[in-house]
Amino acid sequence: MAASQQRWSAQIVAGEDLASGVLLLRYRRHSLEPAEAQAGAGVAHVATDGATSADVKRRRQLQRGQMTRSQSMAFEMSNKNKELMNDIFTNCKFKNGFGPGVQTAAAATSPTKRPLSPDHPNPALPITETPSPAMSRMGWALRTLLVADNSSCLKDRKVSGKLIRKCAPGTELVDWLVNLSPIVHTRAQAAGMWQALVEEGVLAHVNKEQPFKDKCFLYRFRLDEEGGAAAAGVPQSDDLGAANEHIREALSALFQRGPDATLRMILRKPSHERTSEELELVFEELVHIAALSHLSTSIKRELSSIFVFEAHAQAGTILFNQGDEGRSWYILLKGSVDVVIHGKGTVATLKTGDDFGKLALINDAPRAATIVLKENNCHLLRVDKEHFNRILRDVEANTLRLQEHGKDVLVLERVAKQRGQHSAFKYTVMSGTPAKMLEHLLETRLGQSVGGMDPFLDDFLLTHIVFMPVVQLVDELANYFHCDAHEEAQTPEDREYIINFKKRVIQFMQKWVMAVRHAAFEEPSVCDFIEDLAAEVEADPDLNEETSIVHNVLTQMARYQEDRNQNAGQKWKLPPNGQPICLFSGNATPSKTVIRPDDDIIFRVYCADHTYCTLRFPMHTTAELIKACAADKLQLNRGPEDLVLVEVKSNGERSVFKDNDVSIPTGLSLNGRLFVSVKDHLDALTQLQEQECPTEGVDIDLEILSTKELAYHITLFEWDLFWAVHEYELLYHTFGRHHFGKITANLDVFLRRFNEVQYWIVTELVSTPSLSKRVGLVRKFIKLAAYCKEYQNLNAFFAVVMGLSNMAVTRLQQTWEKIPSKFKKIFQEFEALIDPSRNHRAYRVFVGKLQPPLIPFMPLLLKDMTFAHEGNKTSLDGLVNFEKMHMMAQTMRTIRFCRSRSLGLEPPSPKSEGEVRSYISSFRVIDNQRVLTAMSQKVEPTRKL
Ligand code: CMP
Repeated sequence: MAASQQRWSAQIVAGEDLASGVLLLRYRRHSLEPAEAQAGAGVAHVATDGATSADVKRRRQLQRGQMTRSQSMAFEMSNKNKELMNDIFTNCKFKNGFGPGVQTAAAATSPTKRPLSPDHPNPALPITETPSPAMSRMGWALRTLLVADNSSCLKDRKVSGKLIRKCAPGTELVDWLVNLSPIVHTRAQAAGMWQALVEEGVLAHVNKEQPFKDKCFLYRFRLDEEGGAAAAGVPQSDDLGAANEHIREALSALFQRGPDATLRMILRKPSHERTSEELELVFEELVHIAALSHLSTSIKRELSSIFVFEAHAQAGTILFNQGDEGRSWYILLKGSVDVVIHGKGTVATLKTGDDFGKLALINDAPRAATIVLKENNCHLLRVDKEHFNRILRDVEANTLRLQEHGKDVLVLERVAKQRGQHSAFKYTVMSGTPAKMLEHLLETRLGQSVGGMDPFLDDFLLTHIVFMPVVQLVDELANYFHCDAHEEAQTPEDREYIINFKKRVIQFMQKWVMAVRHAAFEEPSVCDFIEDLAAEVEADPDLNEETSIVHNVLTQMARYQEDRNQNAGQKWKLPPNGQPICLFSGNATPSKTVIRPDDDIIFRVYCADHTYCTLRFPMHTTAELIKACAADKLQLNRGPEDLVLVEVKSNGERSVFKDNDVSIPTGLSLNGRLFVSVKDHLDALTQLQEQECPTEGVDIDLEILSTKELAYHITLFEWDLFWAVHEYELLYHTFGRHHFGKITANLDVFLRRFNEVQYWIVTELVSTPSLSKRVGLVRKFIKLAAYCKEYQNLNAFFAVVMGLSNMAVTRLQQTWEKIPSKFKKIFQEFEALIDPSRNHRAYRVFVGKLQPPLIPFMPLLLKDMTFAHEGNKTSLDGLVNFEKMHMMAQTMRTIRFCRSRSLGLEPPSPKSEGEVRSYISSFRVIDNQRVLTAMSQKVEPTRKL
């Protein structure tokens, strides 16, 4: 039967890379016509195995499918791989494992024989291209003795009218061998010994249809098959002597090889032909294979019937190519294979006992590497995809480690199946090198078939700044995108592969911008890369479909740049009396105005004697620079090494800034002040008197303001602050701003707001001397918490409830006594909701049921980030601990979820809008607990018993 065949070839593409010692090697799969296949040197025979026509059709479709995918690939090889590669392109063969010469001969001598597909090895055929000298000699000795034996079973016989010279039935060969040697005890042993000769092509079934069987099938020696002088006549006495001399050694060697040959024979038979004894034999062998040690007995038993033995005679044979569809999983029984990745060359060599090829099957992803046989005569066990999925997909090893150059580069772990989740991926990345993780991402998580945002991709995009700086990421992407830069001629197959890869890079870019929005455009290297991509896409008709993606990214970038230009030179101020940070222009309620790193901020820096200077610096200015400048202005006359920049809080506490800290003014506590001090005189720093007083706020009678309106405006105001916080700020905050040199100003402002609301509640209550007014206020604040909860502003809800739970408030017994029990009950429920026990379980359950838009309790998100950070190392044995990145990204995603719908609250009433808005934007606040407690004592002195 004529089957269209495929062949692999490799060629060096000459170019500049060659001169620099780097070979650009391209593998290409060709379709071969049958005639070419028959004649082609180094081309293995591919045929069908008597499968139904539907099977054949399906198989052909599969082959065609493979050909339209990534048919060729270019990869750069370093000098050290040249040697291997020379070997590859001189010896390249398509996978099959059966010597072409033997097969061609088989087909020629047996026209009725149904050819075999490489997927179904024929145990009647040899597993080597030519017999080894040792086996040839053993065969020669046995044949010589057989021919010399007068009662020999080796006779010329007529089969279907055709004369076959010197053949013998299997049963008689077994009889002869058992009689010949006392070491052969059983017929099965003898059969195994003959099979050892069959698998090297020394002996063969006359029609090449049967492995050796203790049955009446006829077998003959290769020598007789070939005819010629060596086969003619009776052996001379010299030969007989030599054969007799050699036979003991030959029998003992064959005796050793028999069981393995039997096993290989069984493993080459179709499952349904394996007897229960044979399956038992296979099972006993499987028990000793390390790659299967984690599997249960019942699974090993199942595998006994479906493992297929594959032998490959030639080093350089490509088992499969990177980018191919995964069709089988392999265990290396003998020999070694190279794992080759394009752009990198050989990254690992796998040895006997190792397994490979699981990744593509489990993740339904393309092959992550090309597998090239490193030695002649490699033996493999193979499990095909359908069996793998049925038996192994759910029980495969929990951990997969990929190595390059002897070192782990990617560690994957099986994902526990979660109810309702249907991820295509069964493995998740636990750790890896940044570059390998990116490669894994591009190859498995991007492509036409994958829609939406893959969790691994999203985790990577949200956290890569921790382990892979933007510039490095852009460099890697550019390399992937320009992988064809040095190629001259490209076949359509090359082109298709390259275009596919370019598309993946474009998709990556799109998802990147989707995940981190403007943060991506803040880096000039990213903008340059996007423009570069756009130009290439524009010029390349093959990337037509990507034009709209790139245009979309370009539009977003242009919008960002326009916005940036419009708001360039934005100025902020940290007012001297502890009011909230605001725009210098006086706009007290900056609506969705993001604080940018190069925005200026105006603030004061004091020194020990409370004199101060006013400075104006960009947000990203380091503490070191501020310190030096303030010292200069305040004429401290000390070197920078003697000085520190320090915050003095309203309670006198001091906290020193690191020299490389940034966004200093926004990082201050509510009524904190910035000081520059001589290191040794830190203890002499005292807070300013004004710090113990309330911050400046709008003076208004709270009683007259509608509580619902207060809650409404607080929510609108805080939504804008929350909106301006970028997810990255959580990372900067957790790892320390100094670590990235990036500002956390928007997050700082949002956190300051939390404290402001909390202390506003306390300040208002302890500074209200009238008992009835205090009672009215407590009721108002409980209602305020209820409205904030209703508006899903949980940040303000927590702040209000925590304010009411402050010691200075809870001790106001007279006030609480007058609170109606209905209000007290509601308040108790609120306290239960903010209860921190069991890791804020009550809140987590509550918030878990809410739909966006909502403002989360930000300190808890920061606690989760810190927990993930402090409880887990960032690097594990030199690999990025991606589990930690995943934990952090989960928290960052919470923020994204909360803001995934815009806030569209119904205003309770339009009437006092301006008044309420200006009131809630700047509260009068004391943040010194000692002062607050003293004031509380004053309004309600402790009752004497
Ligand atoms: P799969 O992607 O199915 O096919 C190629 C196989 O090579 C892959 O599964 C792994 O089993 C194996 N492999 C071993 N080391 C590596 C590596 N460093 N990168 C990618 N694949 C590797």
